[in-house]
Amino acid sequence: MVARVIPVDPFDLVVFGATGDLALRKIMPALCCRFADGQMPTDARVIGAARGEMTTGAYRAEVAQALDAVLTGPDTPSAQTRRDFLDRLDYITLDARGEEGWPALRDTLRPDPVRSFYFAVAPSLFGALAERLDRWSLITPQTRIVAEKPFGHDQASARALNAALAQHFTEAQIYRIDHYLGKETVQNLMAVRFANILFEPLWNARFIDHVQITVAETVGVGGRGDYYAQTGAMRDMVQNHLMQLLCLIAMEPPHRFDPDAMRDEKLKVIRALDPLAPGDIVRGQYSGGRDTPSFADETGEAGENTESYVALRAGIANWRWKGTPFYLRTGKRLSRRVSEIAVTFRDPPHSIFGEGAPWRENVLVIRLQPDEGMDLRVMIKEPGPGGMRLKDVALDMSFAEALGDDLHIPDAYERLIMDVIRGNQTLFMRSDEVEAAWAWVDPVIAGFGRLEDAPVAYAPGSDGPDQATELLRRDGRQWREIR
Ligand code: BG6
Repeated sequence: MVARVIPVDPFDLVVFGATGDLALRKIMPALCCRFADGQMPTDARVIGAARGEMTTGAYRAEVAQALDAVLTGPDTPSAQTRRDFLDRLDYITLDARGEEGWPALRDTLRPDPVRSFYFAVAPSLFGALAERLDRWSLITPQTRIVAEKPFGHDQASARALNAALAQHFTEAQIYRIDHYLGKETVQNLMAVRFANILFEPLWNARFIDHVQITVAETVGVGGRGDYYAQTGAMRDMVQNHLMQLLCLIAMEPPHRFDPDAMRDEKLKVIRALDPLAPGDIVRGQYSGGRDTPSFADETGEAGENTESYVALRAGIANWRWKGTPFYLRTGKRLSRRVSEIAVTFRDPPHSIFGEGAPWRENVLVIRLQPDEGMDLRVMIKEPGPGGMRLKDVALDMSFAEALGDDLHIPDAYERLIMDVIRGNQTLFMRSDEVEAAWAWVDPVIAGFGRLEDAPVAYAPGSDGPDQATELLRRDGRQWREIR
């Protein structure tokens, strides 16, 4: 199935932090793929800006290398297409806190097209960049900025960042990225919930026993040890990615699929979350393996009390969800790379097949990665004679199988960057949403110094610490295997 591509309006996109990991590994490959698909109009331009002295030629060579490293699959852009994309790239040496480079940037930008500035830099530079964009009169009505996570490290810093940006931009010009919202299956979750009647009558505490949200990674923190020591999984993954998934599962149907209607409903979920008690959360740190360093090796003393794994039990205090726990877990160096949401339904009120009949609950699994798809476990009769024997089977739909072999599932950044150019904020976070998410995690993180919730060790390649298993066992439940 070939995707329908609608070219966006002509644009100038400036990427601050152009030589950083995010720009090279995510933003440039995403743009190259959109270019290859014909979504970037012929007169679109991309301008990399960073502090390093470099010619445009040298920058193009660096991006070319990054494209070769990232775009390796069979359906990736051809060598000629990559060269054509690179021809659109410019580079400007620019000091975010000084004056160098700003006149050159001003002279490069065209007055009319959509003008986007991507802040692929540390949040400590957001304020300075915003201020200089204004001072150099680079902000037009067609201007948007893209702010990468982490958006602050607590509610107070997020609020300060929002205030600093609000001095120069309207909320409608600010695109706060959480790349999980750009994942194809996450958007599909909204289609499944709100384009079908099937699930909605059952989508509440009366029929749903519990929900598990898992984002498991096999990688460790690697070269990001310093960042991770200060951040931990709670700030890096839970406050944003996992909470966004929880919101999409738990929100009320918005009256329209439009930015504010969506974000109003997500915000209500965050505000209805019960405060987390210390016993509702387990933190872990991976130990060293035969060939892999431990979390402690990678983060040093600064990471002593920081977690690479979190499991927690969240409750939502509203009519729809009171009594249905949401279990969230995420960690690095686990057995598999799996992101999924599993919705477990309650048992039927009475079994007509007798007490001894084998029984499995209905579970709807939404797989984000790998092998995007959905799987609904239902009970059926085992075929053939021999009485009424029940068995649970999976109604399994892999999107790749269902929608055709040539289905290309775009990277989240491809979708999100094009949404910025189109001016569609539906999949971006609003200021109040980010602040509310911090408000929920802040008190928990503030309590992390206590001995009883110090991170516990787990073996690399495992499914996490035993204490996380216990968190569910005490509720009479168990985690799904990470597979
Ligand atoms: C990022 C986190 O936001 O998401 C990383 O900072 C994490 O620590 C990454 O590895 C996971 O994203 P994905 O798309 O690979 O699941």
